[in-house]
Amino acid sequence: MPRGTIVNLWVARLDPGRPACYDSRMRNTENHDEGAGAVRFSVSMEPDLLGRFEALLKKTGWSRSKAIRELVRNRLAESELEHGSGPAVGVLAYVYGHDQPDLAHRLMHVQHDAHAEVVSSTHVHLDRHDCLEVLILRGPADRLRKLADQLLALKGVRQGNLTLTPATCPLARTHRHAGHRPRSS
Ligand code: NI
Repeated sequence: MPRGTIVNLWVARLDPGRPACYDSRMRNTENHDEGAGAVRFSVSMEPDLLGRFEALLKKTGWSRSKAIRELVRNRLAESELEHGSGPAVGVLAYVYGHDQPDLAHRLMHVQHDAHAEVVSSTHVHLDRHDCLEVLILRGPADRLRKLADQLLALKGVRQGNLTLTPATCPLARTHRHAGHRPRSS
């Protein structure tokens, strides 16, 4: 194993009294940076990996600590989407052959059962046989994953793909465009 390089990092101390919510942790850490409440710890890293990390820092202009915080936050958010039940929005796309007996009816039946999570659906007739459906979903991440599994497990459904995003991600909270303000929650 190659010799590691020690890197010292500052992270924010998370207040255990706050609710265990990604969003509140994000605000908490943003307020702290390397000042009061930050905890210093060391990380060892292979020189090659550190070199690539430093190249990334050069591109972004971030400090090591900021970059590590961002990477940790992103991974935590991913993990929440993969395994948790936090609020999420999602896009589910799949292709199926409408010649498959009863398949269109069964897909519709599952969607109606999950009417609370299916915000909208778009159907495209790709050719004489195949259809593309794209569903916009909203709800607890675990329910969206289960719904996707149910739909994609139906015989004749192909090329299914679910993309999830945290419904409380900082982008959703801060981004604005003309004539549109995000709902405050
Ligand atoms: Ni069609």
